[in-house]
Order: sequence, then structure tokens, then C-alpha cells
Amino acid sequence: MPLKSNPTRSLDARYYTDPAVFRIESDGLFKRTWQFAGHISQVENTGDYFTFSMAGENLFCIRDRDGAINAYYNVCQHRAHELVHGEGHTRLLVCPYHAWTYELSGQLRSGPNIQSVPGFDKSDICLTPVRIEEFCGFLFANLDPDAEPMDVWFPDVRKQLSSFVPHHGRLKHVEWVEIPENCNWKVSIENYSECYHCKLNHQTFSTGVVKPESYDIQPQGFCLRHTTECQNLDRMSYAIDLNSNEHAGEYSSWFLWPMFSFQVYPGNVLNTYHWRAVDADHVVVWRGWYTIDGAKSDVISKLAVQDRETTVEEDIHLVESVQRGLRSSGYRPGPLVVDPKCGVNSEHSVEKLQQWMREAVDG
Ligand code: FES
Ligand SMILES: [Fe+2]
Repeated sequence: MPLKSNPTRSLDARYYTDPAVFRIESDGLFKRTWQFAGHISQVENTGDYFTFSMAGENLFCIRDRDGAINAYYNVCQHRAHELVHGEGHTRLLVCPYHAWTYELSGQLRSGPNIQSVPGFDKSDICLTPVRIEEFCGFLFANLDPDAEPMDVWFPDVRKQLSSFVPHHGRLKHVEWVEIPENCNWKVSIENYSECYHCKLNHQTFSTGVVKPESYDIQPQGFCLRHTTECQNLDRMSYAIDLNSNEHAGEYSSWFLWPMFSFQVYPGNVLNTYHWRAVDADHVVVWRGWYTIDGAKSDVISKLAVQDRETTVEEDIHLVESVQRGLRSSGYRPGPLVVDPKCGVNSEHSVEKLQQWMREAVDG
């Protein structure tokens, strides 16, 4: 008699509701993974900087005199005042508390009266660096000094994305759309990473440009790659020059575990998702839209609005209902619908995600 294998069950509700689980993720997963910091266009010139935060740490990114892009913890090595705010441009980093001054390379350069201290060696003092990588014009930081490079985490993504968005070096952001969701970050990520719910919940998406029956999501290292065939390209709300590029008529998406995704619409239109986990019950999704040189574009503005009013709006109701459901005493985690043939009506991608989620919490 063939052995009956049990279907994989969805994660226990506590993974999505328990503040203790969120603390484990914040102290571990969020500190060991590549997180979106900003875009290279924010540090175009020597001395340009911007602040950002991840895993509860204040950080900043700055371009030094050698042209290198560095990131540091945003804290003075004297008595811990923050060094910079927001974004801007500076020749040297001067702490607002007692005016200790650092080179753009992070090295302490001077401080009032420090020479009077016997044995004070300023060459010993440097801002604490953070790993930062440029990836197709986007900057990602990792608090783990020993983290593998992004190309190991996300094999082939750089090459694939470059072929879909060959102009990525010239992009600048034009639109940010902020989407607060009352749910755990993992609920939102899982929802993004399956299309089993699309037919019922996303009219525009599933009757528009993508061909739902060809939609699939496959792991590629710690990336989940979405692919689909397109249709009705002549009915798009903007003109597409199919001859401009080999992928001009395609849609694709690369989700980078745990909280970022690149999405490309037909016409090589790049947009991004950046999830920021707030606490066990709240996440904010930032949708970013980009154009060449940051040129204002009615097409992109309309797309951003249409996306916010349709797919995004539809998903908010789904994920918030799930979060309420996860708090129900009546919920028993159900079996995932994992079709061996994969495809749009399969949750194999959620199974993969939940494996990573479980490992992040349980080791
Ligand atoms: S804390 Fe920065 S100079 Fe004192
Ligand atoms: Fe959705």
C-alpha cells in the first residue's frame, strides 16, 4: 500500500501574532538579511548622504572622496549623539553635540581639545561600518558583517533584472505610495507571493495584461521569481514599443527574502515593494515608482494610482481579515494547496516562504 504523505500545514497563528516571535525576528532575521536602504541617485556626489533604519537601528549612507558608497551606524563614537538627520550633503561629518569631526570615510579627524588627553589616539576611532551593496542601482544593507553577498542570496537576479531594465543606472524615484496594513509582515509577504487568490480578488490584474493560467512563482536561491505570459498589450493604458527591448512585452517580479520586491511591467517599467515591519500586527508597504532621470510622467502617476486603487486596495482587505482570523480561537492551520505541477493555483511558493519563516524563528 502506498504511504500516505501528509500535506504541509500553514504556520501556527502564533508566528503572526506573538510579540515574542517578532522580537526573535527583529534580533535575528532582520539583522542577518539584505534590507533595502535607498537608491544610488540619493548619493550621486561626494558627501551626499541619507539616513535609513533597519532592525531598529539608525543608519546612514554616504559617498566618500574615493567615490565609494559607505554605510555607518548613525552614532558618534564620543558620547553617542546621532550624527546626521534626513538627507543632505556635507564636506565632513560634524557631531552636533561637541563637534567631533569625522572624515567621509568614517575616520575621526579632530575634536575640540582632544590633544590635551594623554594617550588619545584619534586613529583608533572610526564610525562603525555596515555592509552595503549596490544592486542594479538600488542599495541594500546587512547588519551581519559576515553575510554572503547578494549574488549568493539571489543568484542570477542581477543579470535578469538588468536585461528587463537595461536603463536601471539612470533611474530615479518619482512616486512613493505608503500603504499601512494592520497585519503581520509575513501575512503581507505571503499574500504577495501567491496568486491562488488572484482570480477571485483581483479583477483588473487577472483580466488585464497577465495571462493567469501561465502565472508561476519559483524559488531562485532566496528570491521568489514571478513569471507570466502577457496578453492584451494593445489594451494597456500606455503605449509600449515592443521593439525597444527583448523584454518590453513582459511582466516579471523578483521578491528578495525577506522584505523587498522588484516588479517590472510591460514597457520595462520598474516599480518596487519595500515592506517595513513595525510590530507583530503592523507593517507598512512602500511602493516605489521610477523613471529615467526622475522625469515626471503622467503614465507612471496614473499607474501608481491605478495600482493603489485596485490590486493594493484589494489586498489590504484580505491581509487585514487574515490577521483578525489568526487571532481567532477557532483557527486550526490548514493544509497548503501545493500542486506538484506548480502554477497559479498552487501554494508551493508559500510553502517555501513558510520554511524560511520557520527557520528564522526556530533555528
Ligand atoms: S557625542 Fe559627538 S561629539 Fe560628543
Ligand atoms: Fe493579491
